[in-house]
Order: sequence, then structure tokens, then C-alpha cells
Amino acid sequence: MTTVDLPLLPLGRGTDPLSERGVECPGDLPPASDPDLVARAEAAKAALGEKLFVLGHHYQRDEVIRFADVTGDSFKLARDAAARPEAEYIVFCGVHFMAESADILTTPDQQVILPDLAAGCSMADMARLAQVERAWEALAEAGVQDKVVPVTYMNSSADIKAFCGRNGGVVCTSSNAEVALEWAFEQHGPDTKVLFLPDQHLGRNTAVLQLGLDLDDCVVWNPLKPGGGLSAEELADAKMILWKGHCSVHGRFSPDVIDELRAKVPDLNVLVHPECQHEVVVKADLVGSTEFIIKTIEAAPAGSSWAIGTELNLVQRLANAHPDKNIMFLDRNVCYCSTMNRIDLPHFVWALENLVNGVVVNRIEVDEKTEAEALVALQRMLDLPGRTARD
Ligand code: 13P
Ligand code: SF4
Repeated sequence: MTTVDLPLLPLGRGTDPLSERGVECPGDLPPASDPDLVARAEAAKAALGEKLFVLGHHYQRDEVIRFADVTGDSFKLARDAAARPEAEYIVFCGVHFMAESADILTTPDQQVILPDLAAGCSMADMARLAQVERAWEALAEAGVQDKVVPVTYMNSSADIKAFCGRNGGVVCTSSNAEVALEWAFEQHGPDTKVLFLPDQHLGRNTAVLQLGLDLDDCVVWNPLKPGGGLSAEELADAKMILWKGHCSVHGRFSPDVIDELRAKVPDLNVLVHPECQHEVVVKADLVGSTEFIIKTIEAAPAGSSWAIGTELNLVQRLANAHPDKNIMFLDRNVCYCSTMNRIDLPHFVWALENLVNGVVVNRIEVDEKTEAEALVALQRMLDLPGRTARD
């Protein structure tokens, strides 16, 4: 076995600075059994006052999200981070790529902190810069690179965003992938192709269901195969070159559970995240980002039934907040995002109490060159016209 691009490190043990996962988390954490953790978090937050701004992604645990000053999907959190230049410390309760984006979008004086460095994203790990650069060269050899616009999902490392920035591309999130793709397809006239990184499902779902492309217009680039496993003819014919990456959490949802639930629950509405497989998304009634999922449930009439295909912390919170609606999880088994769950109350308290003592732990700092190039791609996203219905 010669593949060394993706070393498999047990979470939280060992160090791989190139990876979104498996980074050691140093420090003297308070025990999870400490009955004073909530009081300690409240006291540390109060002591830091306006210096601190806590961002919380919707997949965070209840015990952590209650301390967030703002909550949101990836797009909203990126915008919120950029909108608080007076906060000295931004504690990001989310995953590594989100904290990197916050660092890129904030001023150099602001420090972004991720309470547990092992909070990565397995999908982001599926596209490594060396692999993407090899693919880019192969596209040149196949004679198509000058027509290709790289588009990366927010769920990617900063160096992939920088790659997109320096090669005329853009970042997108689950709430603006449609406008980002429309922008991309305008860049080189009718022959434009998109290299979509790293989530093949978001790329395919958006291209087919929102832009009206055919499934046959999409090919999958396998970074572990020479030439991506694609012939020159396949590349010449394709409009969407989808990177072979996926979310292991959303990959669990299956079309047969939708059929099963529809047979059992009358008037069931199925609401899923666009990271789900195409076969699932085509069977759903509504598709959108975590923010869209929340807004949809908030607006739903009492008594309505919903099966939701996204991370379980969010689905449980929605079910608890809306006891007048029949909310169920779209999988037979529990399905948390293990890396989102790394941010727990002990890590949160540890990070905040260190800040109170003037010690910055777990700072996420993107180097200057990567930051400048990634900012180009992020700014192109922030400048995209309007928002979609999935806002
Ligand atoms: P959202 O941008 O919809 O919040 O999704 C982020 C994510 O990681 C989903 O897996
Ligand atoms: Fe990454 Fe999936 Fe977790 Fe989102 S839910 S952070 S895409 S592993």
C-alpha cells in the first residue's frame, strides 16, 4: 500500500498538520464530570465581555451552542465573523475549515480559536492541495484547463480556497451553490467547465436540480486514479467535473428509508441537506442548508410531519423546539458528525479560561500568502448577486 496522502489517524491522537483531522489537543482540560462547567463558562464569558465573540454552527452540541453569540450555517457564520472587527477573540464552535475562513475574513489583530483542534471535517480532508494541483495539470494535458473554473465548497482547507482564488475560481456554500455555479459558467462562454471540489453530491445536486444540467454532463474525478480515471473524451464532453469527495454523515441517508417513512407517515415532508446523495435528494420535498432547514421548520404549520436528513444534533434540537410538529430523523441509526461533536463543554471552558488568563490556545492562523489568495475566492462568493431561495 503506497498511498500516503490520507494517513488514518485516530481522532485526537497523533499529529498531521496537513490534515483537517487527527491533530493533538494539548492542555489540562476540566473533567466532563465537573458540575461547575456551566457556571465556569458563564463566568469566563462575562469576564471577557466585548473582547469575545462566540460563533456556533448548527451542528454543535446543545451544551455548547447555548453560549454562542450567533448561530448559523457556514455562509452566515463567515459573514458574521467578518462583521465584528471590534472583537479581539473569535471562538469558533464549529470545525477547522470554518475557523480558517473566519481567520481569513477577520483583521490580522483578531485571533480565531477552535476549542479542539481535532474538530476537522472528513470531507475537507478528501481534497488535498497536491492532489488538486495534479488534477489541474492533467486537465491542461487533456487540453481543457483554460475552460475550467474551479469552484470549492466552503468545506475545504484554506489552501484549496487559495488554489481557487489564484485560478479564477470561487468558494460556495450549501446556501449559494446555485448562484456560484451560474457565475462560474459565465466565465469562459458556452464551453465553460467547472471543477467542483470536494463534495461530488453538492456539485451534482446543484448542477442537475438547480441549473438543469443532465446527469451525463457530470463526471467524477477520482484523485486516486491516474488522470482521475477519466478519458480525454469524457473530460472534453463533461460540463461538471466532480471531485470524488463526500460527507460521511450525509452519505448515510438512503432513498429506501424515505420510501419506508412515506408508507408509514401520512403527508410526510422530507427535508434534506444537499450533501445527501442524488438518489435521496430527488426523493425529498425540500433541499437546503442548515439555516434553510431551520427556517422551513419554523414556518411549518402545527401538526405537520417532517423527516429531516441532516446531522442529529440539529434534528434533535428542532424536535425539542417544536413539540407541536412531528419531527423525525431520516435514518434508522444515530448519526452525529463526530468532529463537530469534538467541541464539548470542557474544551470550551478550557479555551475561555485560558483567554481570561491572557493565554491564547488553539489559535487558527492561515499564512499570509494562502490567506490573500483564499480571500480572493471568498470575496468573489460574498460579492455574488442576491441569494437563492435556500438562503
Ligand atoms: P451548512 O453550510 O448548511 O451549515 O453546512 C455545513 C456542513 O458542514 C454540512 O455538513
Ligand atoms: Fe464535514 Fe460532514 Fe461533519 Fe459537515 S457533517 S463538518 S461535511 S463531516
